Amino acid sequence: MKHILAMAVTAIFLTGGVSCAAEHSHRHEMMKQEGQKSDDRTELKLPEAMKTMQKQMMRQHMDTLSEIAAALAVNDLNKAAEIAKDKLGWTEEEEKRCSMVEKMTREPDFMKLGKAVHLKADELSEAAKAGNRDNALTALAELINNCNMCHNKFRH
Ligand code: HEC
Repeated sequence: MKHILAMAVTAIFLTGGVSCAAEHSHRHEMMKQEGQKSDDRTELKLPEAMKTMQKQMMRQHMDTLSEIAAALAVNDLNKAAEIAKDKLGWTEEEEKRCSMVEKMTREPDFMKLGKAVHLKADELSEAAKAGNRDNALTALAELINNCNMCHNKFRH
């Protein structure tokens, strides 16, 4: 009995190992193909100092997402609501910032894509405040998609 169990475990391990390796090489192939494509996203024409500032803000956003996910993981919904609202919510200040970038770059989609992120953060905050973790997590997934909608369109 012990012997059969050991064989079964070995078989699972081996097939798992093979499919993992196949998956890995497939992914590697995809990455190589993507790497060969030219980057045809729209370049945001901004002064270097603004690009540096914008990227710093982006890294801050990434920290914020981590903090929100951590709060949701331990079911601290009030904290998640607070962080989402305070650090990513839509404010007049945020609107000014987005609108300035839009004017400088003459890219009308910048404001739209930025605003979508911040409004989704407000939605996440509301869901968490109402005690609905499932809806807050769904909003978090959509929020990350909204981040990437802009990354897929624009680059520095
Ligand atoms: C309206 C446009 C827009 C939105 C929305 C947006 N980003 Fe970005 N993000 C950019 C641009 C432009 C860059 C610079 C890309 C490059 O370097 O080519 C960037 C870069 C980044 C980087 C890399 C920073 C670095 O140091 O190179 C991170 C991380 C990032 N964004 C996170 C996020 C997160 C998280 C969100 C959502 C909460 C988000 N971004 C939403 C436009 C956006």
